[in-house]
Amino acid sequence: MSVIFSGIQPSGELTIGNYLGALRNFLTFQDDHECFYCIVNQHAITVPQDPKDLIHNTRSLAALYLAVGLDPNKVTLFVQSEVPAHAQLGWILTTLSSIGELERMTQYKDKSAKQGETIPAGLLTYPPLMAADILLYQTNYVPVGDDQRQHIELTRDLAQRFNFKYGEVFAMPEIKTTVGGARVMSLQDPTKKMSKSDDNNWATIRLLDTPDVVVKKIKKAATDSEGVVRYDKEKQLGISNLMGIYNALTGDSFEAIESMYAGKNYGTFKGDIADLLVGAMTPIHERYAELIDSPELDTILTQGAEKAAAVANVTLARVEEAMGLRRK
Ligand code: AMP
Ligand code: TRP
Repeated sequence: MSVIFSGIQPSGELTIGNYLGALRNFLTFQDDHECFYCIVNQHAITVPQDPKDLIHNTRSLAALYLAVGLDPNKVTLFVQSEVPAHAQLGWILTTLSSIGELERMTQYKDKSAKQGETIPAGLLTYPPLMAADILLYQTNYVPVGDDQRQHIELTRDLAQRFNFKYGEVFAMPEIKTTVGGARVMSLQDPTKKMSKSDDNNWATIRLLDTPDVVVKKIKKAATDSEGVVRYDKEKQLGISNLMGIYNALTGDSFEAIESMYAGKNYGTFKGDIADLLVGAMTPIHERYAELIDSPELDTILTQGAEKAAAVANVTLARVEEAMGLRRK
């Protein structure tokens, strides 16, 4: 069975973009792959986090993973900081990285530009930690958005560099971008991606928003002047984004949606999308409510960390031995 590894940062409440573009995709691998899904809280602290929010977002993300249908009997779900091998191998891979290659990462450039004068060093050394996450599990495929491609390339470079210098230890991972996966745009500015850290609350629909909030946000979503439900990513960005959400929820093609809504106004279309979203979100909310304060959630995460550590420690031991870091 091939190995899948992916991680999401607990840096805010998940949006329907995370769900339709990532989380839902994770479900498709659980039956025929060995899956490790990690809540990467040590990545989240590369920018300042409020401790109360961080622990809340960590639990909440774990509960959401399960609420959307990940089965803890099939996948290993765990929190990064509970498996020390991540930080240990992260440090080792930092020593194999050059400052120049880390400075070339676009996510570093974007995020450090937002930090003003003092840039946390962790933003720069983030990719070797991500490489450690992946390489510890002898991962074959990493399902992530295309924005992570550069980090996966670096992971491969580091794996190769290590294997060449110290002997074959790491498997070579590949990116697995979602084919036809929804890329959901901001509801207020459809030229940018819907993001869980957007300050404008109207721009995002959170996976845990209540039905009336969903209805209000969809009502307020940017549309276009034409007044026709027509897919056009050049001229009708707002309505095309809403059609993308509709398509992701129903599987209906854009042509089918256009003919269904021929002669109807945006209001009708928006009302239907809100209903579809609420329909998809309600079962997730129910399961989430059962889990969020339950001891079951803690048990799943504790067992997940144990299972993950058992695998990760084998790789770490081989690395340390090969490098002369282990006294036998
Ligand atoms: P992030 O929220 O940027 O930490 O991303 C977590 C995961 O969700 C990544 O795999 C992203 O590719 C995916 N993702 C985030 N935002 C969106 C969006 N607006 N549309 C589709 N996928 C998204
Ligand atoms: N860098 C990823 C992001 O910003 C999160 C992440 C950390 C990750 N470690 C990972 C993703 C390992 C996949 C595999 O979205």
